[in-house]
Amino acid sequence: MDVVVTLEQFKLACSKLKEPVGLVPTMGFLHAGHLSLVKRAQLEVASVVVSIFVNPAQFGPHEDLAKYPRDLKRDLHLLESAGVDLVWTPTNEVIYPLGYQTWVNVDEVSKPLEGAMRPGHFRGVATVVAKLFNAVQPQRAYFGQKDAQQAVVIRQMSQDLDFPVEIVVCPITREPDGLAMSSRNVYLSKKERKAASVLSRALFQAKAAFEQGERDASQLRKRVQEVIETEPLVKLQYISCANPDTLQELEGVVDRALLSLAVIVGKTRLIDNILL
Ligand code: PAJ
Repeated sequence: MDVVVTLEQFKLACSKLKEPVGLVPTMGFLHAGHLSLVKRAQLEVASVVVSIFVNPAQFGPHEDLAKYPRDLKRDLHLLESAGVDLVWTPTNEVIYPLGYQTWVNVDEVSKPLEGAMRPGHFRGVATVVAKLFNAVQPQRAYFGQKDAQQAVVIRQMSQDLDFPVEIVVCPITREPDGLAMSSRNVYLSKKERKAASVLSRALFQAKAAFEQGERDASQLRKRVQEVIETEPLVKLQYISCANPDTLQELEGVVDRALLSLAVIVGKTRLIDNILL
């Protein structure tokens, strides 16, 4: 496995890879969710490239950039064992050299949900992913359904900017109690970690109601809310029942829907979702 830092080294290493090439962008502190994207890529492409970059542009001024968990040594060990071909670990200066001033804004789908709670977040995500796509020129790129809106934003960006890359969205990997795996789960205390299982429980209960015929979007949101409210440590930020492609909120009868939520547990912000 090659591990490189500069753009020149990286482009050279990419040019030697057997095609098709699959890219898995990450911010490191890898867990089984990230590795599920790697495994999926390995089934579908000849070479797998992983990037590890904690992208400052997607963190708000009051977010956790400085204390975002990092363990490069462990990450590289995991990727080597998984059989990844090439890893890029650029520095901030490699991605945003002095004088950097170009940003990618994906207007409509960046507005609601996470975009409303985290102004500028998707501008940072879209910009860094566009730069990764240009550097690697992968045939496929792998993203997790965990960050459902991110996947929608990236798909829209790729379509609008004519990136010749297929966006593959992989299912959410969960802990045995249902909690969606996330690098941020390490922030949770023991009590908070236990309480956090209510997120997936709420979503699964709403899905069960949907499968038993509930088609009213407001009832589905209410179902999620009632379950979340049984857990005093968990404070709701939003519950959404939206069109999975446009992210517009649904009213009345629901055919396909993305049911998603954001909460605060202690000082930690968690998101989760389920497709109906
Ligand atoms: P990060 O949070 O490290 O996640 C990297 C990829 O792993 C994302 O596509 C994310 O959706 C996916 N992922 C995270 N947890 C998952 C889980 N439990 N199951 C399945 N997939 C999961 O998302 C980012 O980094 C950044 O925004 C990035 C795209 C790298 C741009 O900076």
